[in-house]
Amino acid sequence: MTPDSPLKQMKVGPCRPKDLPALRKLLNEVFVQEREVTGDIFEYAPLMYTPENAENLRIVRHRGRIVGHAGILPRTIRWRGQTLRAGFVGGVCCRQSMRGRGVGTLAMRDAADHMARLGLDFGVLWTGSPGFYERLGWRTGGGLTRVSIAEAAGESPVVREIMPIDESPFGPDACHRLHEAAGRNEVIRTQEETATLLTTYYRGATLALEGGRPDGYFAHRDTDLGEIEGDAPTCIALLARAAEEGYRACPFPLHDPRLPAITEALPVQVTVQPLGMLLITGRESLVARICAESGASPEELGIGEDVSIEVLTARIFGQPDREPTDDPLPLDIHIGYLDRV
Ligand SMILES: CC(C)(COP(=O)(O)OP(=O)(O)OC[C@H]1O[C@@H](n2cnc3c(N)ncnc32)[C@H](O)[C@@H]1OP(=O)(O)O)[C@@H](O)C(=O)NCCC(=O)NCCS
Repeated sequence: MTPDSPLKQMKVGPCRPKDLPALRKLLNEVFVQEREVTGDIFEYAPLMYTPENAENLRIVRHRGRIVGHAGILPRTIRWRGQTLRAGFVGGVCCRQSMRGRGVGTLAMRDAADHMARLGLDFGVLWTGSPGFYERLGWRTGGGLTRVSIAEAAGESPVVREIMPIDESPFGPDACHRLHEAAGRNEVIRTQEETATLLTTYYRGATLALEGGRPDGYFAHRDTDLGEIEGDAPTCIALLARAAEEGYRACPFPLHDPRLPAITEALPVQVTVQPLGMLLITGRESLVARICAESGASPEELGIGEDVSIEVLTARIFGQPDREPTDDPLPLDIHIGYLDRV
């Protein structure tokens, strides 16, 4: 950096609660006005942009003005008997007139340092610009299956009584019990998280009943399903109903054991995609928890000190094109919803 480099005049650090309106303006300029869409980023990620989380919103200032940002939302993920700490990273941006001068890099480096200081095990983000993050050590990883259901309307060979949860005698706790009992990818939410999710991030839920008791549900956003629970026959009935109602797709964990029966019964299209981009910020603690849970050594699990960050990320979180692999790795964390609860 030369003495008169613009970067020298920049300061990076936490957002103060009183800076939130200025940050909101910048985020909406970049992610709403520039992209010619509608909405408000603060409303899209209501837990991220709060006075309580301001310390974790890392901002770059130039002559006192906010010119860049990388937000972190610390989340707890209960995986088997362990508690993992993830940082969901979002709202990464640089003011349009200041791009290409290192502002975004400064914000992201500070975000990574801050995640390590907070003791977070890893960061996760979703992006259309992976190249920017790869330079900074982030790696594409994890995987989930997207099932496109448009052709499945009216095709279910399985009959279930299906109704919106609001019209049933049941509430969100019925969905929570199904979520908990399935332990789908060994990541379990709390009852409060499920209730919040169903009534805020998702636009509603639809139950399947068998013998008058709930035995599955789907929760939906505007055009896609956000999650589905129930055994394979129940999912078949629910997906066909969702298709009739105009929903287009549903995410599943990568090697979900229900998928073969579903693809056999319904004309659906299956694609696999990465979970997102990941940065391990607490290698030692993450490896220690995986080892404590599995009773195996880092070397036995292929996550010893000598493995590269690429190998470590692929081994811990898996890759979209992987085959079903050994217990207990990879962690099949299908966690997109956690930035809302
Ligand atoms: C992406 C963004 C944050 C980068 O900020 P920036 O301050 O311009 O980035 P920097 O100056 O730190 O970039 C440093 C390097 O990253 C590269 N880079 C920047 N944007 C990139 C992108 N979208 N994809 C790949 N590389 C990118 C630059 O070429 C530069 O490389 P170099 O060091 O080899 O010259 C900024 O372009 C932005 O705000 N974009 C709009 C919002 C957005 O898309 N955010 C990310 C959504 S997840």
